[in-house]
Amino acid sequence: MSARVALVTGGTGGIGTAIVRRLADSGYRVATNYRNEDKARAWQAQLRADGYEVALAAGDVTDHVAAEAMVREIEGQLGPVDILINNAGITRDGTFHKMKPDQWQDVINTNLNSIYNVTRPVIEGMRERKWGRIIQISSINGLKGQYGQANYAAAKAGMHGFTISLARENAKLGITVNTVSPGYVATDMVMAVPEDVRAKIAADIPTGRLGRPEEIAYAVNFLVADEAAWITGSNLDINGGHHMGW
Ligand SMILES: NC(=O)c1ccc[n+]([C@@H]2O[C@H](COP(=O)([O-])OP(=O)(O)OC[C@H]3O[C@@H](n4cnc5c(N)ncnc54)[C@H](OP(=O)(O)O)[C@@H]3O)[C@@H](O)[C@H]2O)c1
Repeated sequence: MSARVALVTGGTGGIGTAIVRRLADSGYRVATNYRNEDKARAWQAQLRADGYEVALAAGDVTDHVAAEAMVREIEGQLGPVDILINNAGITRDGTFHKMKPDQWQDVINTNLNSIYNVTRPVIEGMRERKWGRIIQISSINGLKGQYGQANYAAAKAGMHGFTISLARENAKLGITVNTVSPGYVATDMVMAVPEDVRAKIAADIPTGRLGRPEEIAYAVNFLVADEAAWITGSNLDINGGHHMGW
């Protein structure tokens, strides 16, 4: 059998790049999407210099027509998508009593509606082939809430509702569906937070530091393995102990 194909949305970002590299290291053929071609080609060239060949396809995940075209383009380049990592995401923080409609809609569209847009074009093929792995990259703040993130927390919590429903619908067909909920990871998304706020966050984390993108990628790589076939409908918290529950 040729190597499985993995699509990582938002693969050019901080966590996405680590996931792309890790899955490629495991021998999967990996693809991601882009909105800005120049930026994506520069990213692709950097990875190529490091020995990674990653397929690219244009596609804004908030647009279901563009997302389907992106999936078909990747299928044309690499073959059917066996593994989907719904990782693309944004924040548009603000307290809810001041939140503008576009702050709400942009975050719901990018983090939540996107998972319909990208998963819908891959799920039928996975069902026919009786094998698939789908992972939602949610967030610690979808579990515990966060000041200024009613939009983001709503979207991220919604992702897990999707996970547990899709997991039930597809469990008999060799498809697992899981959520990974990172805590604060040192990527551009978090480095955009003022330094004093970041220092306070790190001090609140039992491990005393932010996470590394590679630590999220490690979990994703674990969940997509053949051996992880009985792990479905789960949420994996990776947050240095910042939020513990069971
Ligand atoms: N960093 C953290 O601490 C943290 C914690 C918990 C959860 N997360 C989640 O982890 C995921 C990755 O976060 P990150 O920190 O790696 O963020 P990041 O570095 O900002 O990367 C985000 C990626 O998503 C892509 N993207 C955004 N909107 C898109 C759209 N409409 N269509 C297609 N692609 C789009 C971006 O592409 P462009 O270059 O085109 O913008 C970029 O590749 C997100 O879902 C985030 O919510 C992050």
